[in-house]
Amino acid sequence: MSLDYRKALAGERFWDREVEAVFRERGEPVVDCILQNREEVIALCEFIERERIRSYLEIGIWTGRLLSALHRIFRFDLVAACDHRWAETLGLPIRVPPGTRTFWSDSDSPEYRRWRETLGHVDLVFIDANHARFAVERDFEMNRAYPHRFLAFHDIRGTRPGTGGVRRFWNALRRGHKLEIVRPHHELGLDHTTMGIGIWRE
Ligand SMILES: C[S@@+](CC[C@H](N)C(=O)[O-])C[C@H]1O[C@@H](n2cnc3c(N)ncnc32)[C@H](O)[C@@H]1O
Repeated sequence: MSLDYRKALAGERFWDREVEAVFRERGEPVVDCILQNREEVIALCEFIERERIRSYLEIGIWTGRLLSALHRIFRFDLVAACDHRWAETLGLPIRVPPGTRTFWSDSDSPEYRRWRETLGHVDLVFIDANHARFAVERDFEMNRAYPHRFLAFHDIRGTRPGTGGVRRFWNALRRGHKLEIVRPHHELGLDHTTMGIGIWRE
């Protein structure tokens, strides 16, 4: 039987009205929380269970809350993170679970490629770093070159300032198979999403 992921995530803070207010005021969501729509992460958990995902790489982890919550629930065999630590420059702590394989620099670098190679096969790569279209395209092309099952993208609806690049990338993506996780953003009182998660396989 499937786990109750809503319950499993109940103690986690997601993008709520207060985070939205900070984002509007400062232009950045300067809060140590999961920068996602809770409903979409619940659906992502169901996908992870259904597809028996055992290895997970997140590119763009903010303070590490999403990666940590998913690893707490699924106890992946391999968990890995890439981030150039922007959250820290804003005064926020970054935490990842013990044993996480980390790359603390730019995903667009020869060093990243070398590091990614050392990880070997990764079931699910979650891309949530630079949201400019050229950067998402670049992260997509680079990461599909390494052994994986799924590549996921945050903000495929991309109606929030600074996220339209992911929407344009996703809508233009014609290759492979695409699955969309798009749920109402209840914690913002919305009957639609401003985010959305797209999952792609060859
Ligand atoms: C929206 S946040 C990630 C949110 C996180 N996935 C979550 O669900 O809470 C974007 C992150 O991407 C990182 N980032 C942006 N561009 C990057 C790049 N080129 N290389 C590595 N990290 C990058 C930033 O430091 C930031 O932590």
